[in-house]
Amino acid sequence: MKLISLLHESIKILREHGVKKPKTDAETIISSVLGISKVDIYVQREIDVSEEEKEKILKIVRERASGEPLEYLLGYKYFWGMKFIVDRGVLIPRFDTETLVYVASRVCKSPKSILDIGTGTGIIGITLKKLFPNAYVIMTDISDIALENCKKNVKNLLGEEVEGVEIIKVDIFENLWSFTGWGKFDLVISNPPYISEKDMKNLEPEVKKEPITSLYGGPLGIDFYLRIADKVKTFITDRGKIILEVGDEEQAELVKEIFKLKGFRNFLKFKDLSNQTRGIVIFNF
Ligand SMILES: C[S@@+](CC[C@H](N)C(=O)[O-])C[C@H]1O[C@@H](n2cnc3c(N)ncnc32)[C@H](O)[C@@H]1O
Repeated sequence: MKLISLLHESIKILREHGVKKPKTDAETIISSVLGISKVDIYVQREIDVSEEEKEKILKIVRERASGEPLEYLLGYKYFWGMKFIVDRGVLIPRFDTETLVYVASRVCKSPKSILDIGTGTGIIGITLKKLFPNAYVIMTDISDIALENCKKNVKNLLGEEVEGVEIIKVDIFENLWSFTGWGKFDLVISNPPYISEKDMKNLEPEVKKEPITSLYGGPLGIDFYLRIADKVKTFITDRGKIILEVGDEEQAELVKEIFKLKGFRNFLKFKDLSNQTRGIVIFNF
């Protein structure tokens, strides 16, 4: 089969099944399986695709058509220009979270120690280690699958011999001292589960394929902020900062109130590229 015919066939299958971006997804699948760029699909449109490659591509296309997220099928997602492995059972990184990393890179001046709570694939902690190579970065999660996924990304992107990186199983702050034996952190950063009970019911079917433990933030979506606010003072330095991802402006205001009640004074909300409130910086000096 000619490459261009395979592309058209793939787009047709995806479109018929109501996939939102059939052309983009078909191009991504083909370029990923054949190891060529999307432009090359058109440049090499007349080449013959082997039967084996064709079957491999159509298998992924059919799974995609049945509603499986593309990232789980391909096994990776790009974040901050780096290719992160994404295993089934772990939250698929969102581009919006890059805003969090960007803000951290602007408001922190050479942090010595960083704690990434609920690291998932490790996107936040690993990217910050790239940006602040001298920082000691601790990445935590409660999910074993996430921790394994994170370890693979650390190995691939930071190297097996990297120093100053720890990946540990912790329930928010429980027993963190005993694991790290570390002092306080200059930056505590997290993209916690923050979807409320009401919003969980309206999730897109594709998002429902992601683990509930990485999405559900309690009845009002604020359980994790409450737990972080409760203990975080013990874990940050005097000039330390807390950066938290939020779902929208309303949630950012709630988070602000939660931390105000715990004695925090300074807040800086920030937006993502879609102009949606995406996070908040909290500090006390
Ligand atoms: C919204 S995901 C964020 C993943 C990743 N940081 C990202 O931005 O793509 C939240 C993460 O928190 C983890 N998590 C859930 N409950 C936790 C808990 N009690 N303690 C630590 N991590 C938890 C989940 O397993 C999940 O990986």
